[in-house]
This record gives sequence, C-alpha cells and structure tokens, in this order.
Amino acid sequence: MIAVGDGLWLLSTPTSGYVVRLAGDATPTCAHWGPALTLDQARDLPAGWPELPVEGGAWFGVAGLQIRYGDAVRGVEWRHLGHAVEGDQLVLHMADGHYPLEITLHYRVRGETIERWTTVTNCGAEPVTLLRCDSAAWSLPHRDGYRLSHVSGDWGREFQLRRTDLTMAETVLTSRRGHSGHHANPWLMVDDGHATEEHGEVWSVALAWSGSWRITVERDQHDRVGLSGGFGHEGLTWRLGAGESVDTPVFAGVYSPAGFGGASHRWHDYARTFLLDDRTRPVVFNSWEATEFDISQEQQMALAERAAALGVELFVMDDAWFGGRTSDRVGLGDWWPNPDRFPEGLAPLIEHVRKLGMTFGLWVEPESVNPDSELYRTHPEWVLRQPNRRSTEVRNQLLLDFSRNEVAAWAHRWLDDLVRRHDISFLKWDMNRPFTEAGDEVWVPFVRNVYAIIDQLRADHPQLTIEGCASGGGRADLGMLARTDQTWTSDNTDAAQRIAIQHGYSQLYPVRTMGAWVTDSPNAITGRLTPLRFRFHVAMSGALGIGGDLLRWTPQELEEATALVEQYKRIRSVVHGGRLDRLGRWAVQYTLEDEVAVFLWRPTTLVGRDAPVRLRGLDPDGVYRDEDTGVLHHGAVLMSHGLPRPLPFDALSDLRRLIRC
Ligand code: GLA
Repeated sequence: MIAVGDGLWLLSTPTSGYVVRLAGDATPTCAHWGPALTLDQARDLPAGWPELPVEGGAWFGVAGLQIRYGDAVRGVEWRHLGHAVEGDQLVLHMADGHYPLEITLHYRVRGETIERWTTVTNCGAEPVTLLRCDSAAWSLPHRDGYRLSHVSGDWGREFQLRRTDLTMAETVLTSRRGHSGHHANPWLMVDDGHATEEHGEVWSVALAWSGSWRITVERDQHDRVGLSGGFGHEGLTWRLGAGESVDTPVFAGVYSPAGFGGASHRWHDYARTFLLDDRTRPVVFNSWEATEFDISQEQQMALAERAAALGVELFVMDDAWFGGRTSDRVGLGDWWPNPDRFPEGLAPLIEHVRKLGMTFGLWVEPESVNPDSELYRTHPEWVLRQPNRRSTEVRNQLLLDFSRNEVAAWAHRWLDDLVRRHDISFLKWDMNRPFTEAGDEVWVPFVRNVYAIIDQLRADHPQLTIEGCASGGGRADLGMLARTDQTWTSDNTDAAQRIAIQHGYSQLYPVRTMGAWVTDSPNAITGRLTPLRFRFHVAMSGALGIGGDLLRWTPQELEEATALVEQYKRIRSVVHGGRLDRLGRWAVQYTLEDEVAVFLWRPTTLVGRDAPVRLRGLDPDGVYRDEDTGVLHHGAVLMSHGLPRPLPFDALSDLRRLIRC
C-alpha cells in the first residue's frame, strides 16, 4: 500500500513501513525503514540517508550514481518533477537541476518485500558517461550495534554463512567475474547486534542480477548505516547516447522484526509468490557423477531403468552427449548428438526414458566453447577477447560474446531447435567459467541476452523446466531464480558438507529450488563414507535428486532408496511449500498448515550433546501424531521441551513426520 503526503511517501507491507522524504534541496531520502507506521506518524520524521547517493555537495560517502557530462562536470543536483502511484508501485520522477538528465526511482511493494530500481535517461543531444549506476541505496535507523550477515565460499563450498560485527568503514561485497559468484552472493542482512533466529530486528537486501555486482555497506563516523548496490563492479564505464536510458536490476529489501528466521520466511514467500511457479519439482536422476565423460546410449538406458525403479520422475543426461565431447578439452559448442555415442540421435534414449514413465532432460553450456571444436573453428571471432591481450582459458574453454546479438541468436536457435525436435522437458543450463578479456560494454548486455534467451525459451516451451548451474552454485541469485525453476546448489555432494551449504543457500532462496543429489559413498570429492539414509535425509530437505552410479548400488541399497524416495514424495509438498525453521545447525523443520517434517542430522559426534530439538510455530493446544511411530505429542511440549534427538554417532539422521490430529 502506498500513501502520499507533502514531499513524503509511505510504502506499507503487511508488517513494515518505508518512508521516503524529499530533503530541503530535493534529495530523495529514506526517513524510515522498520516497523509499520501511519502517514500521520511519518509526517514528523526528518530526512535521512539519500535514496540514491550521488556525487556533489558535502556528501563524502559512496556515490551510487556517478555521471560525467560532455563538459567533464560530474554529479547530480536533484530536482523533483513529480510522482505517480499505480497500485503497489510508486515512481518518483527526478532530474538534474541543470543537465538534461532524468532519474526515475521505482518502488514496488510485493508482499513483505519492497523492490527498488532506477532508470537514468539522457534527454540531451550529447552522450554522457556513466561511471556507476546502482539500483538503490538502503539505510537503517540508528541502533546500538550492527552485525553483517552474508555468505562467502568457493567452488565446492558455496554459501558459507558469515556473521560479523559491522566495522566502522566501507565493507564491499562484490563479484568481478561476470556471474554472481561462488565466493560471494548478492545479498546481505544487517541486524541490531542481538538478533537470533526468532527475535530481533533484521534488515536484508538482495540484488536480482546474475553478472558482476557490488554492494557497499557503510557504517559512517556518526554510526549510521547505509548501503548502495547494483550491477557491475568498480572501474567499468558506459556511454549513454542521446535519448538513451538504462534500467538497473531490482534491488529488493525486507525488514524483519522476527530475527533471521523471519527474514528468511519473508524472502522465501517473496520468491515463491512472485518469482517462481508452484509446479512440483520432480525427483531427478542426473548421470554426471556416475559417468562423467564416459557415456554411451546403453549405459544411459541401463541407468534410466534403475532410476525409474527407484521412483525417479526425471532422467537427466549430463555432459558429453554432443559433438566430439569426450573430455573437458574438446567439443563444447558443437550441440548435436555425438554420432559415435548416439548413432540414431537422442530419440531412442528419450523414448526409452519416456516408456519407463520419466521425463527427459539434458545438460547444456551455451555460453562457452572449447577451442578444439567445430564452432570455434568456424567462428573464432565470436569469443570474448581484447586486442593485444592473451586469451585466458578456464577449464579449457573460452567464453562466447553473448553481448553480441548474432551470437545470442545462434544460441537461441539451437536451443529452441533441440527442445522443439525432442521430447525434452528439462535443461540444466551450466556456465563453467568467469568473464575474462571483456570490454566495458560487454558485462551488462551479455547477462541481459542470457536472460532474454531463457525467457524466450520458457515462453515458447511452457513445459520446459530450467536448472541454473555455474560449476555448482556460481550463478544463484534472484535474477536467475526469476527465470529458472531450480539451482544446482554445489558440485560438492558430500552430505556432511552439504548441510552448511544448504544452510547458507536457504537463508534467502526457497528450498524447492535447492537441487540436492544423493551420490555414492565414499564421496567423489571428499572421500567421506556416509550411510545412504543420511545422504537421503540431507538431500530430501531440498529438491531431491539422485546422482550416484546406480549400476553399482546393491539390491539392499536400491530397496532402501526406493522407500526413501517414496517417503520424500509424501513430504515434498511440506518441504517445498512450507515454512522453513532452522533449529540450530543440524536440524530443520518444515511446517505447512497441520503437517510438519523435521530433519535431524548428526554429521559429527559431539559426545554428550544430545539436547532435544525444540520445534517452532506449532499450535500449542494442538496434538501432533508421529506418522511413523504413532506417538502423540503436545504442541506446547514440542515447542518448550522439544523432540528427542537419539543420534549418538557420526552420520546418523532422522526424519520425523508429524500431523496435527
Ligand atoms: C559443472 C557442473 C557439474 C557437471 C559438469 C559437467 O561442473 O557443475 O554438475 O554438469 O559441469 O561438465
């Protein structure tokens, strides 16, 4: 809801309020971001931190909008042109006081989330240079302390949650890689220094962008906290020609009066309601860990038979089905079935999979090329490179310049053709290398063209599900989530390490998008031995898949797996549609109306640390029946005393299903 005062705008979500006030010099500022207020209460609030800090005047903090005009003058002096309110959307029309430059600040209330973005238009006849164009700045009311929460990591250990005191300085979270990154992720939370999972104030922002990005959090000398974020990293510039505009990506914000858990609930609701559809995520089998590059039609058919018998719903053939791709050195870019491996094309395998009652999917990596490929030999000019500079190879591959429309059109053509000609309902869209040798003008149009291809494919093929992947979780963000159905969370499938990865991923992103496979033991990356049940219980807390070599699983393992897949299907709607509560590091609870699923894991034994796990958000007067044991529990007791955790040894786990009687 939006209410308008005099130079004052109040945006209200069901539980929070956001107030924009024009300062005396017309600078749009944030007067309030926190608990709900009425317009009357908001009228007395003074102007605060700029909504989009610019260069100029006595502002010495981060400038989210930096512009150089043709005469080398920089900065903006604000002039207010007017506003428009349409439903839950507010638009503030602003301009520079002298130069022909318009700046439009957009706001949209979506559930508990406020989306913000900016449009900058060069209305003059001369080009201007943009040195920085952030989506928005956010700022917090004064509190006694501040902590910063975010995730960092690397390939194979993405989404590690960090929580530290926010130091009195500028803290920069960024990716200069052309994708959102394994090492960081474009969101953060700031709390009042005392927040817990259930209590305390948390302010959180997330950028919907899948390329390079930067968010700078500033705790200034007056102990105020503000942050500015947007696409691109430092040092990039681009020209805005006469009459041209640039729209930034959405930078969304959430205020939670109910701790970090409350912030996650709000983000999950936002993504589920506004970004994702609610189709059921199928149980996947993916062949990568079982076969790597050594694949054949017979072997894939045999795997499919085993997978179908387990209850798998979607069979995905990963890398190495195309061109001359027999290792990561060759064939990337040649998107036709390998004639030696699939002499009659993909049809026989797809038919086999379909007859087994599963749908079929394929791995693709459209943005890259191996120098040893037909594509590169035909179009060496399509790769990203700079004159007089070496071409950097990562995983023996170069990047195609998707900022060029002819390259993007080629990619769309073959992808569309692939899906049109075959009965394919799923693509795993991978991207295994960062940008290198990219000029100023590449970074943004590249990502926009990737978005456009995916959007077009989905519009033309409504049955198509897309999984976003970039060597695991290297490109997981709200921008990608808005156009894919799920994420390949990490190449690390070690269940013990997955718990931390999934803990970090699910701070922001709903677990129905969190691809999680059960693979073999010992684990291919870490060598860790874990029971099948533990691996399942970790993967069942997301979007379950199986990625082990089923041809080597014993009859007992296959039987146990079949029962666990069946159990997963019974709780899938609770896990994917319910509220997620993190009960410490090693337990999660999902609650959907009267149904509850609790996963308990014990990756490492801590002798004597068997404290029961207290559940949350139940009806205290309700009685809950354990679906497996028949035992009855009182809601009030489960919340104050908890469920016992009888897991004395390493790699034990449990799943408790409770239903309110
Ligand atoms: C990336 C992905 C893996 C797999 C391989 C195939 O590393 O993250 O899951 O698809 O590529 O080469």
